Amino acid sequence: MDRSQLLKRLDDLNQAALVGGGAERGAKQREGGRMTARERVDALLDPGSFHELDRFVTHRCTDFKVESVPGDGVITGYGRIDGRLVYVFAQDFTVIGGSLSGAYAQKICKIMDMALKNGAPVIGLNDSGGARIQEGVASLAGYADIFLRNTLSSGVVPQLSAIMGPCAGGAVYSPAITDFIVMVEKTSYMFVTGPDVIKTVNHEDVTKEDLGGARAHATKSGVAHFAVPDEAACLALLRELLSFLPQNNMEEAPRRKTEDAADRVCPSLDELVPVNANKPYDIKELITEIADDHHFLEVQSDYARNVVIGYLRLGGRSIGVVANQPADSAGALDINASDKAARFVRFCDAFNIPLLVLEDVPGFLPGTQQEFGGIIRHGAKLLYAFAEATVPKITLITRKAYGGAYCVMNSKHLRADFNFAYPTAEIAVMGPDGAVNIIYRRELAQAADPVAKKAELTQEYREKFANPYQAASLGYVDEVILPRDTRARLIDAFNSLENKRDTNPPKKHGNIPL
Ligand code: HXC
Repeated sequence: MDRSQLLKRLDDLNQAALVGGGAERGAKQREGGRMTARERVDALLDPGSFHELDRFVTHRCTDFKVESVPGDGVITGYGRIDGRLVYVFAQDFTVIGGSLSGAYAQKICKIMDMALKNGAPVIGLNDSGGARIQEGVASLAGYADIFLRNTLSSGVVPQLSAIMGPCAGGAVYSPAITDFIVMVEKTSYMFVTGPDVIKTVNHEDVTKEDLGGARAHATKSGVAHFAVPDEAACLALLRELLSFLPQNNMEEAPRRKTEDAADRVCPSLDELVPVNANKPYDIKELITEIADDHHFLEVQSDYARNVVIGYLRLGGRSIGVVANQPADSAGALDINASDKAARFVRFCDAFNIPLLVLEDVPGFLPGTQQEFGGIIRHGAKLLYAFAEATVPKITLITRKAYGGAYCVMNSKHLRADFNFAYPTAEIAVMGPDGAVNIIYRRELAQAADPVAKKAELTQEYREKFANPYQAASLGYVDEVILPRDTRARLIDAFNSLENKRDTNPPKKHGNIPL
């Protein structure tokens, strides 16, 4: 071969890889606003930053006649987001339905290994019919190789999954191990067994969308952290999410400069928390009011709304917030809220993201459904997560901090660094109503006017316990602050914790009540 033939050979191979499954399938892929795998990679990464690896890898299936396309249906490589290194794989549905072969899995494993070695996040753009049926166990082995790497990378480098098409069967377990799942509404779905199997086994009729669409996972199962209207929004969200995260567990999240003054006073907060303990308010108003530039990225916004989680910046520093939501179920903790918050706390702790806890919680949700569902075990996860976390941890009690929930929500006793309270805080074993019923049962039974007696005793109890001062007198609350000073006080406190070092006893790993 002469030089021009050598170059032509490379060019031909490149062209074959670039067209993927062909123009016709590419056109079909674009129906309904979907991008091709290459378009997704380009839209995700900084322009011109992508370097593809293994473009010429082909499958090794000999038992069936399977079309051979250079790259074999997955695009892998590395690039930059806001100048920061990331590793990416994008499944190409136009090539054999994006189905996973042994060679395809090896390509993904290669970049996962590189990401782990070089301490950079991995982003998976999923769009695949699952295990390539013609490859048999080689394909299943490929999945298991990926699951192992997902697990070993967990807590070392952030792993983000976008679901941009089908994701079924055991294939869902790779995204499930990753830290965040973003699903595109109407065009993506995830399930272990699809509608046909469910119909056969359970005689239940359910559509793909109702079973495993973005809405279902963002509201009912809690599998998805975000549901977004289209692919462009999905890729933009991945970029934004990364801006709050460090590259790996040895680094801190990048600081972002802000014009928003660290000592900005927030007068509206003075009126936010109603003095009447039974009146709801929206805790998100507090979060957006104190955040740099009023910007808050909420995670799992439509699942277990009684607890709010997400990211904000305070003085440029990325902070993970966990907040009870009095506007939903009075902010009571239940199974789903505990799971949601516990996993978030552990993620933040693994990746050196300080935690802010905003507490207004009447307790754990009572009921047989909760007890039989294992609220003991699930609530314990949250307790465990806060207790083991060694990142800077600050709690602000805005109103109720009752009973076990007081202990759980990052109390002083779980190694919180600062515990602040508003003057409206009520810290007690239980609310005045329940407490009076128990401790004054006899007096109430004997009273000439039980209603008046109860009102009098409730008022007495409220004055004694339903305030932050007993906790403050014991040093469990470090400072009672004015709501208007919240932002300034928190930024100063987090600044003082900049060099915090804390450790847990050496162990292989703990045994969180899963
Ligand atoms: C091989 C596959 C495939 C697969 C799709 N294709 N899935 N080839 N193995 N798993 C091929 C199709 O034959 C077709 O080839 C092309 O991809 C596009 O598929 P269509 O069916 O035409 O597309 P669409 O109508 O959009 O339907 C998409 C789909 C459907 C819903 C994903 O293809 C489907 O149900 N596929 C099978 C899904 C599945 O059961 N996978 C195994 C899950 S179990 P042509 O040549 O016609 O273009 C699993 C185990 C993992 O994954 C275990 C890990 C522990």
